[in-house]
Amino acid sequence: MSHGPSDVSAWVMRFADRIPAGGPVLDLAAGCGRHTRLLVGRGHPVIAVDRDVTGLADLQANPAVTILAADLEHDRPWPLGDRRFAGVVVTNYLHRPLLPAAVAAVAPGGCLIYETFASGNERFGKPSNPDFLLRPGELLEAVRGRLTVLAYENLEVVEPRPAAVQRIAAVAAP
Ligand SMILES: C[S@@+](CC[C@H](N)C(=O)[O-])C[C@H]1O[C@@H](n2cnc3c(N)ncnc32)[C@H](O)[C@@H]1O
Repeated sequence: MSHGPSDVSAWVMRFADRIPAGGPVLDLAAGCGRHTRLLVGRGHPVIAVDRDVTGLADLQANPAVTILAADLEHDRPWPLGDRRFAGVVVTNYLHRPLLPAAVAAVAPGGCLIYETFASGNERFGKPSNPDFLLRPGELLEAVRGRLTVLAYENLEVVEPRPAAVQRIAAVAAP
């Protein structure tokens, strides 16, 4: 699904205030940076990572934004090292092997906000490859024993278009 820079996920919007004020945020597979823009606007420095950073070009001069061009699936190692973030935001992106690293990147007191397509989305269109669709409960499993779940949903939505999605907001102990 393609989004304009100002189309913000309602899920990210809902939990953005659980990211500790002023803390650094990782926007993983940031795309055109719609959540980078949202969170910079809320006073966070943001690292926006994507293999294609062309949609972030207008943010290059913004001192609160660090743009990192990286192929998260083929470059090794994980490009953020052992850096931890007050917020980790992932939307409309899944590379299953990265789930543990995304969870581990949440700093003490920080918040993970994750929303992407889920099994069942093949009925609505793309993505339909199971590699790109979360299995029921998969985000819960990913955070189990590491983060405390604030909210989790696995459901079909009609907006912004019919889709099966799974989403979680979860926080690390301070
Ligand atoms: C559907 S877009 C979602 C963008 C953004 N998170 C959003 O919700 O607006 C998926 C993004 O994943 C990025 N992506 C896909 N494969 C990638 C890879 N191997 N490494 C880094 N980024 C990748 C794409 O370039 C694209 O920007």
